[in-house]
Order: sequence, then structure tokens, then C-alpha cells
Amino acid sequence: MNIVLLGAPGAGKGTQAQKLVEEFGVAHISTGDLLRAAVKAGTKLGVKAKSYMDNGQLVPDKLVVDLVTERLDADDAQKGFILDGFPRNTAQAVTLDSALAEMGRSLDAALLVDVKPDVIVKRLSSRRTCKECGYTAPAGVDSCPSCGGEMYQRDDDKPETIQKRLDVYENQTAPLVEYYRGKELLKSVDGDRPVDEVYADVKELLGL
Ligand code: AP5
Ligand code: ZN
Repeated sequence: MNIVLLGAPGAGKGTQAQKLVEEFGVAHISTGDLLRAAVKAGTKLGVKAKSYMDNGQLVPDKLVVDLVTERLDADDAQKGFILDGFPRNTAQAVTLDSALAEMGRSLDAALLVDVKPDVIVKRLSSRRTCKECGYTAPAGVDSCPSCGGEMYQRDDDKPETIQKRLDVYENQTAPLVEYYRGKELLKSVDGDRPVDEVYADVKELLGL
């Protein structure tokens, strides 16, 4: 199972990825989580990435690509992977294709989690994220259901930044829908339904 998850910020990519990982034991490669971990650890990469992330802009490709290729090479990704938040523009998609080809691997599907912008704004303003493991849940949950860590509101989940992220998605990431349709890899699920209903369709679409 080698899958790319597409969809606007807050569409539920991370939520569906968490479920696939729990059930099928594949690697969850979330560039957002990897970048937030780098920011938290204060690495050189984290210091460079922080201002872009806080402003809702994409971090420069060269900073992100190495993170992803390193994770694709790791042991736990050999059985399969779910890429969540990568690729984010056409240049990243082309780089991914050639990196996978070099490894003798390929994608099985690009799955679009489709949700309208007004729903997104509501979801992201009430989202809380685990400081320790990145697990996400709606506001009201004080400790992480997965690891017990403290839940907090991401800096980029403030209203003014949410709109910027939606604009960046429309301009830079949405064109990937046509990119993957052209490669006959695109599948699409209506993400504006209860999590388990979405997940049932995800599995059916992926033939799992
Ligand atoms: P990233 O962390 O990737 O953020 P994102 O794409 O904006 O996606 P989110 O994590 O916000 O949303 P999601 O779709 O995973 O939704 P979730 O499942 O949490 O990126 C952050 C930043 O990092 C970027 O802005 C950029 O700066 C940088 N970056 C990352 N990757 C990059 C790249 N490749 N290149 C350059 N820069 C990059 O769900 C959202 C909420 O809704 C949760 O509270 C959840 O509980 C709830 N929810 C989920 N599903 C449902 C449902 N079906 N019904 C009701 N509620 C639901
Ligand atoms: Zn946690």
C-alpha cells in the first residue's frame, strides 16, 4: 500500500492516515508532523521552517524533499507508506515520482479527501493537537487519547492563518488533483461525513 493523501488543510488527511496505520501497520509520513518535530527540537531545519509555517506558507521544497526521501528509505516504510501533506505542489510531485522510480517503487493511489472550505474553517479553529505525538482531536479533549500527552492549538490554526493556508492550497496544491487524474491514480472520497463512514469508503476505494 503506497498512497498519497490529498486534500485541503483540515480535510481529515491525518485522521484517516492514523486509522490506516493502526489497521494495516504501514508508515505514516506526514511532512507537517516532521516539520513540527524539527521546530520543537530547534534543529537548523526547524528554525528555517518555522516562519513559513506560522504564516501558512509552504516551506521551500528543498527543505522538505530530503525529510521525505529519508523516511521512505526507513525500514517501517518498506511494507507500505501513507504520504500525508506531501507532495504539496507539482515540483514535489515530480520529485516524488523520480525518487520512487529510483527505489523501484511506485504509487498505488492518490486519494483526495474532499471537504468544502466553510467546513474546514470550523474544524481547524476547534482542532487540538497532541504536543507529544501529533494526534488530532476536536477541542474539549484535554489529554491525548493515543499517548496521554498535552493537547494544544497549533499556531497556524488561528483564523487569519487558516484563510492563508486555504489560499495556498487552492493555488499550489489543488492542481495535483489533475496531475494524478492524468496518471489514472486519483480516487476521491466525500470527507464531510462522520470519520468512520469516510474510513469505510477509503478502504473500499483502496481495495482494502
Ligand atoms: P500540515 O501539518 O500538513 O497541515 P495541513 O495540510 O494544513 O493539514 P492539517 O494537518 O491541518 O489537516 P488534516 O487534513 O490532516 O486534518 P485532520 O485529520 O487533522 O502542514 C502544516 C504546515 O507545514 C504547512 O502550512 C506548511 O507550512 C508546512 N508543510 C507541510 N508539508 C509541506 C510540504 N510538503 N511542502 C512545503 N511545506 C509543507 O483533521 C482536522 C480536524 O477535523 C481535527 O480536529 C479532526 O479531529 C477533525 N476531523 C477530521 N475528520 C473529520 C470528520 N470526518 N468529521 C468531523 N471532524 C473531522
Ligand atoms: Zn499523543
